[in-house]
Amino acid sequence: MSGRVEDHYANPDIVPRILAAVRQVNGADAPITPDMLAPLDHFHGRGVLATREMVAMLSPQKGDRVLDIGCGIGGPARWIAARIGCHVTGVDLTQAFCDAAVVLNAITGLAERVRIMQGNALALPLPDDAFDRAYTQNVVMNIADKRGMYREALRVLRRGGILALSNVCAGPNGDPYFPVPWAATAATSFLTTPDATHDDLRAVGFEIMQFRETTQSVLADQIKDRQRMETTGLPPLGVHLIIGDRARQYRINSARSLEDGRTAVIEALVRKPA
Ligand SMILES: C[S@@+](CC[C@H](N)C(=O)[O-])C[C@H]1O[C@@H](n2cnc3c(N)ncnc32)[C@H](O)[C@@H]1O
Repeated sequence: MSGRVEDHYANPDIVPRILAAVRQVNGADAPITPDMLAPLDHFHGRGVLATREMVAMLSPQKGDRVLDIGCGIGGPARWIAARIGCHVTGVDLTQAFCDAAVVLNAITGLAERVRIMQGNALALPLPDDAFDRAYTQNVVMNIADKRGMYREALRVLRRGGILALSNVCAGPNGDPYFPVPWAATAATSFLTTPDATHDDLRAVGFEIMQFRETTQSVLADQIKDRQRMETTGLPPLGVHLIIGDRARQYRINSARSLEDGRTAVIEALVRKPA
């Protein structure tokens, strides 16, 4: 294991694997849509359900310029662009994910509305004040310099622009059980507590609009998910198509870590002062 975040995520042949599975489930001729891909391309706890709730909180409008920090293979970006009619820019560290996102944008007819850039959340390849809204889902766990990431998000938002975050934090009872979806070992996992997250966001200059721990509701869903997986195995469409069958162990460990108070989950909505 290299200790590089992008090596944890990278996997060859992501798009061919996804297309084969999607066609098997939906038929060879069905047009491929963001909704059809949603069971597999929202790579965070509770998948598209969590994206739907995040969008309700962030409330992007038609025509808005929206940034997805750590966009993965672009599932949330496509889903939001298609639903809302906004322009989404996705930035991700993992080149294999960016390449897959570009192909899937084209296949779903969203290449004009979803732009993908390979880059680091700590040095976004984007100008100041360029976005109305931004969001980041399950990314900051891979980043040691939390304030550096939040400062970059603040820089690229316009005045009054809003950022939604959801991510896994440190729980009170020690390290997570590795491997977890974001890291095979402690070398690329950087968890801080919900309180520290709140403090970091304020320290860089964000105004806190909403901040809450969602651990209990996420845990209930993860336990159901684990039980389903233990009885019927991996579903035909799921994030294992992105990262391989190791997804199974990741999900089991994710649920156990939450259950045992080794992790916690938060969501937040913060604003750049007007
Ligand atoms: C668990 S995945 C979540 C992907 C996406 N947000 C989603 O919900 O579908 C974490 C993502 O964060 C990206 N990532 C990790 N560290 C990053 C960094 N410093 N800059 C940009 N992206 C990063 C990884 O490449 C990976 O795609």
